[in-house]
Amino acid sequence: MHSDPRPIGVFDSGIGGLTVLRHLLRLMPGEDFVYLGDTARVPYGNKSAETVRLYASQCADFLLRHDVKMIVVACNTASALALDMLRSHHSIPVLGVIEPAAGEAVRLTRSGSIGVIGTRATINSESYLKAISDVAGDRPIAIHSRPCPLLVPLVEEGWVDAPATRLIAEEYVRPLRQAGIDTLVLGCTHYPILAPVLQDLLPNVALVDCGECAAHQAMQLLEPHGESGHVPRLSLYVTDNTPAFTSLASTFLGRRVDEPVRVSLDGPQPVGRG
Ligand code: DGL
Repeated sequence: MHSDPRPIGVFDSGIGGLTVLRHLLRLMPGEDFVYLGDTARVPYGNKSAETVRLYASQCADFLLRHDVKMIVVACNTASALALDMLRSHHSIPVLGVIEPAAGEAVRLTRSGSIGVIGTRATINSESYLKAISDVAGDRPIAIHSRPCPLLVPLVEEGWVDAPATRLIAEEYVRPLRQAGIDTLVLGCTHYPILAPVLQDLLPNVALVDCGECAAHQAMQLLEPHGESGHVPRLSLYVTDNTPAFTSLASTFLGRRVDEPVRVSLDGPQPVGRG
């Protein structure tokens, strides 16, 4: 069987894409990965579509210089605003997180009432509305969307268990609870880090982790690669060193990770390790 030894590239505006990488590592242990967190420019979710497209194409170019065989856009905001552009510019597979999550939400809902939380840019793009409607076809589905712009900075700060984070999350999900949703799409890859808080606030609601759904799709697209016992090589890059990144990365990936290498996405790029 032909298998391609090149790594898989993954990017996000910051720490959120690690929630996608976690599932990729679990489902595809034979692969190597290059991860880029654009921590100098996080959050993407409050920026214009033009800016997000520029940032996303710089992230993709960086990963391509590391000879990746596939790019996973581990960011809903970039998936919503830049996926078509990235696909039209690159010949390798470029996978987003929105379509896989939309499919899972439709599969899981019993009542047909689905909540979607995400950044302002993701919610305003109506990408989830379109993707869920496409999958649902004739089935009647009510979609209740809510932008939650304060959650990304809280996660980037590592304020996962802080009472303030719970209060803010509660404020955000209250209207969704009142609307009677039975399924909630965590439409931002930072949010699975807050899944325990969100699940506590919405105990009878199924949470959809878009990263897990995307990782399943990535696995279906690629031939299995690597020997059994292979320890995935993980190269982490950031555009700025943020205090929470390494500690949260280790906790989240369930393994000790090296300090990420800081890179600049502007101008000519030396190809570092990875
Ligand atoms: N984690 C990203 C997302 O899924 C980006 C959040 C942000 O940078 O605002 O949308």
